[in-house]
Parts: sequence; structure tokens; C-alpha cells
Amino acid sequence: MKLVKNIITIDGPSGVGKGTLAFSLAERLGWNVLDSGLLYRLVGYLNCKEALETTQEIVQFLNESKIRLITNFNEGICEIEINDRVLGKELRNENIASKAAELAKEAEIRNAIIKIQRDAYDSEQGLIADGRDMGTIIFPEAALKIFLQASPEVRAERRANQLKEKGMSVIMHDLLEQIQLRDEEDSNRKISPLKPADDSLVIDTSNLSINEVEEKVMENFKKL
Ligand code: DC
Repeated sequence: MKLVKNIITIDGPSGVGKGTLAFSLAERLGWNVLDSGLLYRLVGYLNCKEALETTQEIVQFLNESKIRLITNFNEGICEIEINDRVLGKELRNENIASKAAELAKEAEIRNAIIKIQRDAYDSEQGLIADGRDMGTIIFPEAALKIFLQASPEVRAERRANQLKEKGMSVIMHDLLEQIQLRDEEDSNRKISPLKPADDSLVIDTSNLSINEVEEKVMENFKKL
């Protein structure tokens, strides 16, 4: 397989810092970001909020809709344009995330969004692809594949700090439980489970700052 230098994949469990790293690398390189988790969250949202109850209904709706990912650098987040509606913040809560993790186990759902993910890559511009199976399934041709890891306790602590900064109250025990539950679902599913690609660079971020992680990635990128 011919390796492509302007795709960097970042996979890893929830709360490990993939999104923050993806945006700081994208700004530095002038590339786009694919937050693939947002597409699974959209599936969760369609199921919870728009009453698309069966997998078949969800897949049909996805196939018939115009869906595009937008990299919003001002806010440091991706958004989804779907049939001229833009969804972003509505998708970022723990109820939608657990629904997303549940529906992400289904092959029909995963297949329905493969093309949207691959279409996020524009060879002229470059892409940072953030998710669980970016290096293994969606962009195996990426020359640089990163896998981030950190203990559930460290990730829960980081998430708690983010929520506190936003003025939200936090129950540490619940946060840890949610993270462990999603780890279990993401790692143990039969199709596209969370795991490092054979040729990925595994970085444990537990004792590293975001800048230190970014420098490690850039060091390896420069060697390509
Ligand atoms: O990255 P996130 O927390 O927004 O993802 C939400 C869920 O979506 C995650 O728990 C599992 C699923 N997901 C997936 O199965 N494959 C991806 N590439 C990204 C997310």
C-alpha cells in the first residue's frame, strides 16, 4: 500500500486528549480535522432525539441525507452539516455518547458512514483523523498513526477539570464509571474494536502535557 503523508490518524479511548491534540496539530499544519466520533454521536442523536428507532431507519436516513463535516477552528470543534442544518453542541453530552457507543457496534451503521469519513480527506489540504478505527480501518494508508492511552483515572480527572472550567458540577465516581463502561464497549466489540494499528506510535499521555505530546508527534512527522 502506498503511504500518504498528509493524513495523521489519532486513535484512543474516550477522554485521552485526541480532540485537543487533533486541533493543535491541524492549526499548526493548516489541515482539516475529522472528528469521527461526532458521526457516531449523530447516529445516537437520530435514535434518541429524532425517533429513528431501527438500524434500518437510521441507515436509510444517512444514505438519503447530505452530510458534511466542518472544521470550526474558532471554537476548536468539528460540526456536522446535515441537510442544511448544523449540529455541534447538541451532540456533546454523555447520554448521546453512550447511545453512540451502543450503535457503533453494528456493522450496517459503521458501513453507512465509511464514505463520509473518507470524503473528509482532501489530498490538497491534509487531514487529522480522530477516532477509534482511523488507523486500522478508515485510513490504513496514513503514514503516521498515533495511538494515545492513559489510565481511566487520569482521563476521568482531566474530564472533571474540563467540566469544572465550564462551571458544571462533577461527580467523580460517575465520570470514572462512564469512562470504564465506554472503554469496555469500544474495545470489546466484534467489528472495528479500539486497538492500535500494527504500525502505530503508541503514546502514554498520563504524565505528559499536551505540548509534550504534540512535540513527540511532530518529531515523528518530520522524519516521514
Ligand atoms: O470520540 P467520541 O467520544 O465522540 O465517540 C463516541 C462513541 O462513538 C465512542 O464511544 C465509540 C464510537 N466511535 C467509534 O466506534 N468509532 C470511531 N472511529 C469513533 C467513535
